Amino acid sequence: METAQIAVAGLGTMGLGIAQVFAAAGFPVAATDAHAPARDSAPARMAAALDARVAAGKLSPEARDATLARLRIVAVPEDLAGSTLAIEAIVEDMAAKRALFARIEPGLAADAVLATNTSSLPLAGVAEGLARPGRLIALHFFNPAPAMKLVELAGHAGSDPSALALGRALAEAAGKTVIACPDRPGFIVNRCARPFYGEALALLEEGRTAAAVDAAMVAAGYRLGPFSLIDLVGADVNLAATEGLSAAMGGHPRYHVFAALRAQVASGALGRKAGRGFVFPAAPGPAPEDAPGDAPGDAAAIVRRIEAALINEAGWLLAEGGVTAEGIDTAMRLGLNFPHGPFEALARHGAPAIRSTLAELEARAPAHLAGRYRPAPVLARD
Ligand SMILES: NC(=O)c1ccc[n+]([C@@H]2O[C@H](COP(=O)([O-])OP(=O)(O)OC[C@H]3O[C@@H](n4cnc5c(N)ncnc54)[C@H](O)[C@@H]3O)[C@@H](O)[C@H]2O)c1
Repeated sequence: METAQIAVAGLGTMGLGIAQVFAAAGFPVAATDAHAPARDSAPARMAAALDARVAAGKLSPEARDATLARLRIVAVPEDLAGSTLAIEAIVEDMAAKRALFARIEPGLAADAVLATNTSSLPLAGVAEGLARPGRLIALHFFNPAPAMKLVELAGHAGSDPSALALGRALAEAAGKTVIACPDRPGFIVNRCARPFYGEALALLEEGRTAAAVDAAMVAAGYRLGPFSLIDLVGADVNLAATEGLSAAMGGHPRYHVFAALRAQVASGALGRKAGRGFVFPAAPGPAPEDAPGDAPGDAAAIVRRIEAALINEAGWLLAEGGVTAEGIDTAMRLGLNFPHGPFEALARHGAPAIRSTLAELEARAPAHLAGRYRPAPVLARD
């Protein structure tokens, strides 16, 4: 398998990282981009990323040179011929992805795999027009691809099991932890993370401070609170992801786009990149029960509410099939650096406590959130 050539189309943030992942693991990589500057600068950009690892003592200069020597930049998608796995990480546009695969597919063997790194497009649509649609799968990497262990693997209804197996085997051979999931909007992580932000925004709208919410979550073991995470990624990026998922899920109240998030984007306080955000540049303060004026137990109530909503979303995804509870837990730990997955949290709290938290929230939910906290089937069990 180590001699299998991996093709990468698109040499932006994700494509360059994905090319590095496979080259570092010993695979010959052929890569291209529609824009000449992106092609021309790719080896130097990868060298810079690898040099940082050499400087940090995490990579030998020999390993860096060997990795770079495995990268071959080609001019056009047709030059990716002969690859065993062709991964696209180009612009998030259905027509562009279809047109790209139409140029790559004729040069590949019948048992090769086409993989999309799409975050939001339905796979059946991407596969449309292919001579062998069954060979198309999703391999969804996380940013930065070389550092993030997780890859979400999905197929559409017509994907060949052998294409999924080969995509998994190659990603695992490159050192990734591959979690299978259904072809549903947001796959696992981008969907199951929504309540982390959503409940935090609801708490903000109800009068809590962003610093208090973050402090409560950090005290509970989360590396970053929800608002600091939004500050890191950008409120505009978070809003776009939330709006995309809300639309894809038919506007269900579990994916409600909170006014506080829209207001934040409108204010320009987008987070680190703007110099100020919900919390940034301040560090999160003390956990709320330690802050003057807060009632004892406030931090625990914040954590229980956010975790109840995280558990419930994971429960609804589980009910849709094609994924396991262990898979969701692993994906949330690896994809978001959460200290524990939602089903591990469920085991800690117990289903009766989560049911009662959700019932309480549903009972006082405003009209536009009615149904948001309806418990998933898995919560019916004790
Ligand atoms: N950035 C992330 O955090 C992230 C995470 C997971 C998945 N994704 C997905 O990965 C894909 C790429 O995202 P990105 O952040 O790397 O984007 P990017 O803008 O950094 O890079 C895209 C690259 O594709 C090139 N390109 C555009 N159209 C092309 C075409 N028709 N043929 C060949 N090359 C083309 C561009 O020149 C650019 O270099 C998208 O589908 C995105 O949804 C992104």
